[in-house]
Amino acid sequence: MNVGDRHYRTIWLSDDGRSVEIIDQRWLPHDFRVVKVGTVAGIAAAIRDMWVRGAPLIGVTSAYGVAMQMANDPSDAALDGVWEVLHETRPTAINLRWALDEMRNFLRPLPPGQRAEAAYRRAGEIADEDVGLNRAIGVNGLEIIKDIAARKAPGEPVNILTHCNAGWLATVDYGTATAPIYLATEAGIPVHVYVDETRPRNQGAQLTAWEMAGHGVPHTLIVDNAGGHLMQRGQIDMVIVGTDRTTADGDVCNKIGTYLKALAAADNDVPFYVALPSPTIDWTVGDGLAEIPIEQRSSDEVSLVWGKTANGEIAQVRISPETTPAANPAFDVTPARLVTGLITERGVAKASREGLKAMFPGR
Ligand code: MRU
Repeated sequence: MNVGDRHYRTIWLSDDGRSVEIIDQRWLPHDFRVVKVGTVAGIAAAIRDMWVRGAPLIGVTSAYGVAMQMANDPSDAALDGVWEVLHETRPTAINLRWALDEMRNFLRPLPPGQRAEAAYRRAGEIADEDVGLNRAIGVNGLEIIKDIAARKAPGEPVNILTHCNAGWLATVDYGTATAPIYLATEAGIPVHVYVDETRPRNQGAQLTAWEMAGHGVPHTLIVDNAGGHLMQRGQIDMVIVGTDRTTADGDVCNKIGTYLKALAAADNDVPFYVALPSPTIDWTVGDGLAEIPIEQRSSDEVSLVWGKTANGEIAQVRISPETTPAANPAFDVTPARLVTGLITERGVAKASREGLKAMFPGR
C-alpha cells in the first residue's frame, strides 16, 4: 500500500540480494523507519521483538531467514537448525511454522550448492503469494460489505469494528481483515471503521489507525471495552478480525480480547467474520482452546506504555505500581460457534470442519 506517494510492501529483498528491508513497526505511528536485516539472528530478533508482526508477515520474514542461513551454510544440519531457531520466536501464529515447513520441504531434496538461490527465490514467491491471497480475501469480503450496504440508506456508511492490526502491516500487502475494507473504499462504498486500541501493544491505536488515516478510510479509535456498548446501540454492522491460527474445526485464535468481541457480537446479532488466508489454518489441530499454545509476553507490555511526549520523544511510561505483577497472555481462542464466517481466498466458509473441508477439499 502507499505511504505518501510511494508504494511499499512490508518486506522486500535489498539490492544486495541477500538482506531484506522491513518497516520497523515499533515506531509507528510516530516515525516511519525502514531497516535492513541480513542475518538469522537479526531476523529472529525482528520477529521476537515485533519489529515485524502479524501472522502472515512473520511467516514471510522467517522464510527469508532460512534463505540467509542457506547462504551461510546450506547443509541439512543448518536447515534443521534455522527451522528450530526461528520456530521458537513466536509460538502462536501458525504461519511461522507453515513457512518454515514450506522452505524446508522445498530445499531438502536439492543439492546443498543450489539451496541458497532456490531459498531466496521461494521466499520471494511466498511473499508474492501472500499478496494474492489477501487480495482474494478482499474480493470475497467485499461482497459481504456490499450486502450490508445495500440494506442501508444511500450514503450511510457500513460500520465495521476491527481488533488488533490485521492490516497490510500484518501481511506483505493489503492485509487480511482490511483487504475488504480497502476494496470497499476503492469501490466507493461508504465504510467507517471502529478501531479497537488493542492493549497491551496497542496495534489498533498505533498501526490500524495509521493505516486507515493513510488511506483515507473514515475511522474512530475506541478503547477495547467500548465495542459491546456500541453493538447494543446498533452502531456496529459487522466485525472483521484476522487470525493467527484457526483450527480445522474453525476455532479462531487471535489477539487477546477477540473472544470478548465475539461474545458481544453474538449477544447483539452482529455478524462476526474472520479473514483467513489458508496458511493460517492449522489442519493438525481441532480444539483450539485445548491445543493452541498461547504466547505469554513480557509483563512490561502491560505495565509500561509507549507513546510520543510533548517534546516529540518516543518513550515509555509506567502506568501501574512498580511492585504490581502483571500477566500478559497475547492471544485468545474464539470458539467456532461464535464465528459467522471465515473469509478465505476461495470464498466464505462456515466455521466448522465441514465448512473448511468443503472450501479446501483434499485437506
Ligand atoms: O501480536 P501480533 O501483533 O503479531 O498479532 C497479530 C494479530 O493478532 C492480529 O490481530 C492479526 O489478526 C493476525 S495477523 C493478520
